[in-house]
Amino acid sequence: VSHSGIFSPENDSLQPGSFFSLTPFLPVHLTGTKYSCGSGGCGACTVMVSRYDPKTKKIHHYPVTACLVPICSLHGAAVTTVEGVGSMKTRLHPVQERLAKCHGTQCGFCSPGMVMSIYTLLRNHPEPTPEQITEALGGNLCRCTGYRPIVESGKTFCAESTVCQMKGSGKCCMDQEEKSFTSRQEKMCTKLYNEDEFQPFDPTQEPVFPPELIRMAEDPNKRRLTFRGKRTTWITPVNLNDLLELKTSFPEAPIIMGNTAVGPSIKFRDEFHPVFISPLGLQELYFVDSTDDGVTIGAGYSLAQLNDALHFIVSEQPKEKTKTYHALLKHLRTLAGAQIRNMAVCSLVSYKIRLCQSSFRDGFGTMRIVLTAAQSFSLIEGKRQIPLDGRFLEKSPEANLKSEETVLSVYILHSTQWHFVSGLRIAQRQENAFAIVNAGMSVKFEDGTDTIKELQMFYGSVGPTVVSASKTCQQLIGRKWNDQMLSDACRLVLDEIYIPPDAEGGMVEYRRTLIISLLFKFYLKVRRGLNKMDPHKFPDIPEKFVSALEDFPIETPQGIQMFQCVDPHQPPQDPVGHPVMHQSAIKHTTGEAVFVDDMPPISQELFLAVVTSTRAHAKIILIDTSAALALPGVVDVITAEDVPGDNSYQGEIFYAQNEVICVGQIVCTVAADTYAHAKEAAKKVRIVYEDLEPRIITIEQALEHNSFLSAEKKIEQGDVEQAFKYVDQIIEGKVHVEGQEHFYMETQTILAIPQEEDKEMVCTYVTLGTYLFQEYVAAALNIPRNRIACHTKRAGGAFGGKVSKPALLGAVSAVAAKKTGRPIRFILERGDDMLITAGRHPLLGKYKIGFMNNGVIKAADIEYYINGGCSPDESELVMEFMVLRSENAYYIPNFRCRGRPCKTNLPSNTAFRGFGFPQGIVVGEAYITAVASQCDLTPEQVKEINMYKRTSRTAHKQTFNPEPLRRCWKECLEKSSFSARKLALGCPQPLQSGEAAALVHIYLDGSVLVSHSGCELGQGLHTKMIQVASRELNIPESYIHLSETNTTTVSNATFTAGSMGADINGKAVQNACQILKARLEPVIRKNPRGTWEAWISEAYKESISLSTTGYFKGYQTNMDWKKGEGNAFPYFVYGASCSEVEVDCLTGAHKLLRTDIFMDAAFSINPAVDIGQIEGAFVQGMGFYTIEELKYSPEGVLYSRGPDDYKIPTVTEIPEEFNVTLVRSQNPIAIYSSKGLGEAGMFLGSSVLFAIYDAVAAARRERGLTKTFTLSSPATPELIRMTCVDQFTDMVSILAWRIPWTETSKLQSIGSQRVRHD
Ligand SMILES: Cc1cc2nc3c(=O)[nH]c(=O)nc-3n(C[C@H](O)[C@H](O)[C@H](O)COP(=O)(O)OP(=O)(O)OC[C@H]3O[C@@H](n4cnc5c(N)ncnc54)[C@H](O)[C@@H]3O)c2cc1C
Ligand code: FES
Ligand code: FES
Repeated sequence: VSHSGIFSPENDSLQPGSFFSLTPFLPVHLTGTKYSCGSGGCGACTVMVSRYDPKTKKIHHYPVTACLVPICSLHGAAVTTVEGVGSMKTRLHPVQERLAKCHGTQCGFCSPGMVMSIYTLLRNHPEPTPEQITEALGGNLCRCTGYRPIVESGKTFCAESTVCQMKGSGKCCMDQEEKSFTSRQEKMCTKLYNEDEFQPFDPTQEPVFPPELIRMAEDPNKRRLTFRGKRTTWITPVNLNDLLELKTSFPEAPIIMGNTAVGPSIKFRDEFHPVFISPLGLQELYFVDSTDDGVTIGAGYSLAQLNDALHFIVSEQPKEKTKTYHALLKHLRTLAGAQIRNMAVCSLVSYKIRLCQSSFRDGFGTMRIVLTAAQSFSLIEGKRQIPLDGRFLEKSPEANLKSEETVLSVYILHSTQWHFVSGLRIAQRQENAFAIVNAGMSVKFEDGTDTIKELQMFYGSVGPTVVSASKTCQQLIGRKWNDQMLSDACRLVLDEIYIPPDAEGGMVEYRRTLIISLLFKFYLKVRRGLNKMDPHKFPDIPEKFVSALEDFPIETPQGIQMFQCVDPHQPPQDPVGHPVMHQSAIKHTTGEAVFVDDMPPISQELFLAVVTSTRAHAKIILIDTSAALALPGVVDVITAEDVPGDNSYQGEIFYAQNEVICVGQIVCTVAADTYAHAKEAAKKVRIVYEDLEPRIITIEQALEHNSFLSAEKKIEQGDVEQAFKYVDQIIEGKVHVEGQEHFYMETQTILAIPQEEDKEMVCTYVTLGTYLFQEYVAAALNIPRNRIACHTKRAGGAFGGKVSKPALLGAVSAVAAKKTGRPIRFILERGDDMLITAGRHPLLGKYKIGFMNNGVIKAADIEYYINGGCSPDESELVMEFMVLRSENAYYIPNFRCRGRPCKTNLPSNTAFRGFGFPQGIVVGEAYITAVASQCDLTPEQVKEINMYKRTSRTAHKQTFNPEPLRRCWKECLEKSSFSARKLALGCPQPLQSGEAAALVHIYLDGSVLVSHSGCELGQGLHTKMIQVASRELNIPESYIHLSETNTTTVSNATFTAGSMGADINGKAVQNACQILKARLEPVIRKNPRGTWEAWISEAYKESISLSTTGYFKGYQTNMDWKKGEGNAFPYFVYGASCSEVEVDCLTGAHKLLRTDIFMDAAFSINPAVDIGQIEGAFVQGMGFYTIEELKYSPEGVLYSRGPDDYKIPTVTEIPEEFNVTLVRSQNPIAIYSSKGLGEAGMFLGSSVLFAIYDAVAAARRERGLTKTFTLSSPATPELIRMTCVDQFTDMVSILAWRIPWTETSKLQSIGSQRVRHD
């Protein structure tokens, strides 16, 4: 962006929203940069901004999230998108090549952002350290890969050894002596890619910074820059004086620096500002002045620049002066992601202003206690110092910044000898998450003593602004720093800081516990500091408290991936069994892979915005669309009245009619010429409701009202009631497992194009099931399915969330296309997607277990209830699978499991990776743990005792051989150093089946086009299909092309789910290829030394058809639910994992140190793809069982609607050491004796949950609490902390009687939705 005119807001092509985001401009020509959340929280839109600094004469490159960059702020900057880094058309950049070859892409939606983050790092540090790689990726989310291969690709650029450093020995596992890790006979391989194939990285070959931008920056005659739009004006002052003048003229205009606070307010909270002042790059705001007493930092410095400046100061100054800077640096490392840290300014005061206005969430505010003052300026009052003290932080008007003032700098005092400073913080996720509670604390002592001279304690996220515990501090002046002082301080501070029962964010009891837990940490830290200063005078803290001082370090993950080597006799051309790179990997990393939203605009196309219900159960009295229709660009509003066919197909309602049955149900849609117009109009649609009873939100409420979606499913063996009479002990319990959001990176997207003739409709969309989509659209439009052509090329992640929901949304858009007669582009925003499409079913599990004192379980009676939401969707099927898999790996002779999906007034839950298994099995593992505790055995002993040991029949009477399970279990115990660690588990994961079809064409040049019924979602299905076709036709993979999945080439395709994509489509492709090969056989026999091309040419001459379909009718399964028995599954997959965690009992945070997975893969067609699926599923499972938490109000309103509120794992959550081994077994029923592995890894994530459980149990034992406790899922920091009962939790509950918040503010599990009282 080198010329101010290019993006002038006067430009007619600008959409209203464009003024505040770079992203809408990028797709005009460049579609590589992806849009996923729009709020700076996912990193998919990362681009590199480069600016020339005329003072230092250096070019500053930094990553930004394009969705939050105001387009006008880029005047004078160069922007590099993924296309500028490299492409298949020009030259591939090593970052792109290595990310692809290291298997760091699956669906590829996050890949351009990943490339840009690593690329920008390399522009600044051509030989980065592994820690810098991890840090650079902290702001980029990936839902598919589990991050390990992405980090690994980045590590290939590191100067230092990138060997795996196994066991901290500095040696690679591949070194000779380490090879004993696995038995030599197994011929195991560990190389998923070949580094020798990488092109070298030459940092001197990067594009040159545009010289005209240097000239512009150095121009001595620069003038004020103004962009004037229809509603807003953007002004960039030329110098400080100009800035101050502008602030005097427009005191209410925000000063835009990083836009990370103002931007989201405009986007999501409808804030409007007629004028913006942007002093970005104004030299007078960028400086660091160091004096003997402290350091002054210019208000323009970004948090990343502040970080660099502080590191420099720390290296220069004596240690005692830098305690404050260390505290700040610690805070800066985890605050947001690298992009936000490079955008947001450090003036902090700016942030404070925002906080005072609205936000309760303060990650950095409390650290201001370490800053002495901000210097501000106004033309009226001149320069003044604003002390950043309690009065300032608590919004005292005279102490606050005035609207006409501008902050120039922040002054930070050096610390002194008898002065201690600390910043403490706890968030749902270690990095890139707002704090649940944070604190800044500082104490000064009388010289040479531990007598308090000055004490400051500030807390963030405990009130609407930062709260100072000033009264407490005052009362403690003069006291000695000892246990009695701590005890009094805790009591006083709890009295002083009041969190009301209806406090925003809930978690009141937890937050109060944190207030004193963090104080305790500070107390210990200071005591340790005093001891270091004078060990004779001040005793050290007891050894058992030392761990409380340590923060979890952020380490760079590493590990080994092991798989069966290919038979040395296999022909070199045959790719089956090799770790072949994903077919689209390079296109993913260059941004050339086309997703639906990347498709160029279609003439006359309209954008659709949804109007959703705000009530859980209500009658629709009125839908008033007049105000919406009157807005510019609006073409139509579509309601249930406009559905020509069936508006309620198979119980799924497309547009709400007469009544609404959940918050988030689509009531109507608005079609307009731009999305911004459609969205603006959608806000103007007025709907009048009349609430209806009952409003059922939770499972318990559904049980009360007898509200179910389908009949009970039951399996039973033995005589459960009788068996209970003869057991030594009986236990009963309840387990809550919460839901999960799919959080695929590409939100639901549909392009519906009505055709001129015969009522035809062409739909392009992201889905797992083309036939379902076609079926729903046909039903809604009341036309035969042969008029509807459905295309899907790839999906940016799905995980089950794109089976039925795209069909419903497809019907909604097709109706709009039909009514308007124009193409419809329907892209759900992240918030709408999370609200409308729902996710994994929450579960309430009840168990009654009868067992002997030696740990043998004799009888189990299990009940499952899932929250299905308001419509059937897949709930019945999910319940069936849950019940069928309820035994897990254990044989219980008298076993009964019953389950029912509940009908509630929540959005309808749907398929999700694992299809109920990940939830259901928590119940089983919970009772295993409870039995162990009652029998004084370890859970692993109880597992071993009760595990299936020989060929047996499941409770639904399907015969199976658990030998692979025993192997996985044994290897896991042996090879994961289990004895030194905590937990392992086994699981048989059965699969679903369906039929599949393929169509294979051989063209005259010998090239082959394969089509099949499976959809590519990132799971590498197309890659495997190419491998299959290559082996069957005996031609190189390069001859084979796979373009897309559509209903015109392959009809009636079942959906791609249940890990069966490669199994069933592989068989269909194999079938087609074998038919063709048989037809070619006579030609080949005639000319056995001929080439493939010659054979094809000859076959053509001989009129041999070179096209055929292939079919696989699916595995034969039969399940009779009346009898509760049958062969429900074609085969089982087994796996075991072992995880080691460390838990901070004071805060509830945990760190995953190591995970070992042993997965029965039978024969892996593509070990890279299979290991990728296992790792990705494991990390997704780990998120499900730990940090991912959906928050609903009791009225059924979903609060968590984006990455700010819903935390999926980032690169810092994955195991520090992550080892995966594919265990060999036989599975003759499947293609090449392989197994479907897409889902099984999900449940293995629960090893983290059980490791946490173990750690918490140990902590409780230390406190004399030996009684069994239930740790439900997810084990969030809140749950962990509150289960680690100690004197601080006791103190909070003892003090509770005095303030009436306890009853209502307690964490409540109402049904299976953990709900905060808000
Ligand atoms: C994805 C994401 C993650 C985040 N994570 C965290 C986190 O973990 N912890 C945390 O604490 N914060 C977090 N934040 C918040 C972010 O750090 C703050 O919003 C940031 O401090 C604001 O800086 P900015 O430069 O972007 O502000 P802007 O949005 O540019 O401006 C904010 C306000 O400050 C005022 N202002 C700016 N400079 C001056 C000045 N010199 N004089 C007077 N007024 C001024 C403006 O008028 C405006 O009102 C996150 C934000 C995002 C988008
Ligand atoms: S789309 Fe920009 S950060 Fe998510
Ligand atoms: S590959 Fe990262 S989100 Fe799919």
